[in-house]
Amino acid sequence: MRALAALIVTILASASSCDGETETAPPPATPPVTNAAIELPRATDENPEPGVFELTLEARPAEKQIGSAGPTAVWSYNGTVPGPHIEANVGDRLVVHFKNALDEETTIHWHGVRLPATMDGTVAMQTPVPPGGTFEYEFVLKDAGLFWFHPHVRGDLQVQRGLYGTILVRGAGEPVVDRELAVVLDDVRLLPSGGIDEYPDDEGVMLGREGNTILLNGFVAPTLRAQPGETLRLRLVNTANGRFFNLALAGHRWRVIGTDGGLVPSPFDVETLLIAPGERYDVLVSLQGQAGDELAITTEPYDRGHGSGENPALGVATLRLEGEPVIGAPFPALGSPIELLPDNAPQELIVLDEDVTGGEPIFTINGQTYPDVPPIMVPNGDVRILEVRNDAEMDHPFHLHGFFFQVRRQNGLTVDPAGRFNKDTIIVPQKSSLTLVARFDEPGMWMYHCHILEHGERGMMGEVHVE
Ligand code: C2O
Ligand code: CU
Ligand code: CU
Repeated sequence: MRALAALIVTILASASSCDGETETAPPPATPPVTNAAIELPRATDENPEPGVFELTLEARPAEKQIGSAGPTAVWSYNGTVPGPHIEANVGDRLVVHFKNALDEETTIHWHGVRLPATMDGTVAMQTPVPPGGTFEYEFVLKDAGLFWFHPHVRGDLQVQRGLYGTILVRGAGEPVVDRELAVVLDDVRLLPSGGIDEYPDDEGVMLGREGNTILLNGFVAPTLRAQPGETLRLRLVNTANGRFFNLALAGHRWRVIGTDGGLVPSPFDVETLLIAPGERYDVLVSLQGQAGDELAITTEPYDRGHGSGENPALGVATLRLEGEPVIGAPFPALGSPIELLPDNAPQELIVLDEDVTGGEPIFTINGQTYPDVPPIMVPNGDVRILEVRNDAEMDHPFHLHGFFFQVRRQNGLTVDPAGRFNKDTIIVPQKSSLTLVARFDEPGMWMYHCHILEHGERGMMGEVHVE
């Protein structure tokens, strides 16, 4: 559209200069509408070979200017928070030369990526990389979607300090859109000095740490830009420790076309997009309005327990419409089919709950805390139903490593077929149960846990042993 308009302007301009009348200066070129200022820092591929994406990732301390507070001491991958954004294609091999320049041990876990267990970065399968140590991660990216990476040692502290990055894997059948942006949602609890407040009160541990400063791609209240009428695709991940985002765009609805495991078979619309820590969503929005309009992106109240529903809506960003109106790309008529897993298989019960010992909150699985939770044993290749029951008075985002699952039932009732898609992290609402099904077709010891990192680190974590 813009190219065509520019061409017409050129033709008109040349027509008027040909007829020999007064020379008029060409109209000032309208600057392109771009989000370059707030895009994620892009990882560069160090390997010219096609089909291989190779990079060096170093975990190291850095400083970041967040909003108007003083510089914040953070932990970073390659100096930035968020860390490098890797873009690759399905089937590519990812090779990561990892260096630990922190003063404590760490690992990298590749959240949502189906890979060999030895590459999964958990303490079940890997000796943590000591300060000054290195590790080579290498695996093939089998699935399209948005994934992310973060440490799996003292995750609550290391992720909070800034250790996370994204991997966007493109596959066949990507929708045609006018504009696309990868979005990392996070929050951080800043002291007036600008430092990160790491010692929240008990309530902070109970609900998971929530920051006082909301970040989109590492920016406080940034401005996103698009042209009126455009179809905008956002690829979103919530990397916060505890905060759930319930995203609204003033006057608009979101069309959900994908989630953790890539494109969904039956896209659907939502008024607000609820994203728990660890989850990803792929949404389209058809931007209505005119140049100069500023649309608020907010996170709306959501009750995840312990009175959290009373919290006010908070601003996340502004979406400013600029430039010429366009006729946006139509939304794809169809979704992307997935293999439906069988409904019948042996069942495992996973009960999530909370308790207090010695005045400290603990978070349990079947009454135990990790590593005392007995592992679930599954022969390689088998399908299992996971009955995840949440007896606690707050929601827990349940995350499984290494495999996708599909939701079959909620509180015993079969979910709408439109709700059948591949997830690796899902909200199990307070006092309710979800019936999940997964095929365990990669041997090794795999973690599952609550992705409120304070909960996972305080017991709500277990293992599935596939052999
Ligand atoms: Cu984001 Cu154990 O995971
Ligand atoms: Cu994970
Ligand atoms: Cu939890």
